[in-house]
Amino acid sequence: MENVELIDDVLVEPIISYSKRHGLTKLYHPNPKIVLQRMELYRGLKILDVGCGTGVLLYAIAKLIGTCELHGIDVNENAIRRAQKRASAKIEFRVADAARLPFTNDYFDYTICSNAFYYFKNKNRALIEINRVLKPGGRALILEGIGRMDYKQKLDKIMRQSPFIKFSRKFIERTAILQKSYLISAVK
Ligand SMILES: C[S@@+](CC[C@H](N)C(=O)[O-])C[C@H]1O[C@@H](n2cnc3c(N)ncnc32)[C@H](O)[C@@H]1O
Repeated sequence: MENVELIDDVLVEPIISYSKRHGLTKLYHPNPKIVLQRMELYRGLKILDVGCGTGVLLYAIAKLIGTCELHGIDVNENAIRRAQKRASAKIEFRVADAARLPFTNDYFDYTICSNAFYYFKNKNRALIEINRVLKPGGRALILEGIGRMDYKQKLDKIMRQSPFIKFSRKFIERTAILQKSYLISAVK
């Protein structure tokens, strides 16, 4: 397997410029491309983005590693349609719920969930599903911008209680200006 180095144009932008461009309401939505810094990308990987929206992150990954298998699911039909329209890379987008992933067991090397976990109605179930579709040794990355202490406590509890995910929560230095971004990294 060949490692692929990150290239300049998809490197993470400083969160400050992201926030400026998108306005204050997006302050708690860290740039999903931040997860690229934590991924060991190489050709042949099978990657799933859960709650992929319009597929921004998957297209960035496709740009980095040409030959790989990329999938994105989201409950929002419009978002999936928009993701499919880009068609600049071969990525499979599907309308599906995180609580019921349409994939077989032990399939993916990586599952990513960026700025989406908060919106999942059944978070415990989503974790079970994420774990189910990961290969043994596969990695789950969950990126959340957390502005409210009550949600942070809830999320901590969900993660700690999950028999499936042992996590080490990390503070992301790049977003230190906000001090609200967490990347949960778990290995199956
Ligand atoms: C803030 S957007 C983030 C989109 C993308 N991951 C990103 O970082 O740009 C949250 C996404 O989660 C999706 N979502 C909400 N509940 C979901 C569920 N149960 N299963 C899958 N996707 C869900 C929404 O439709 C939305 O596209």
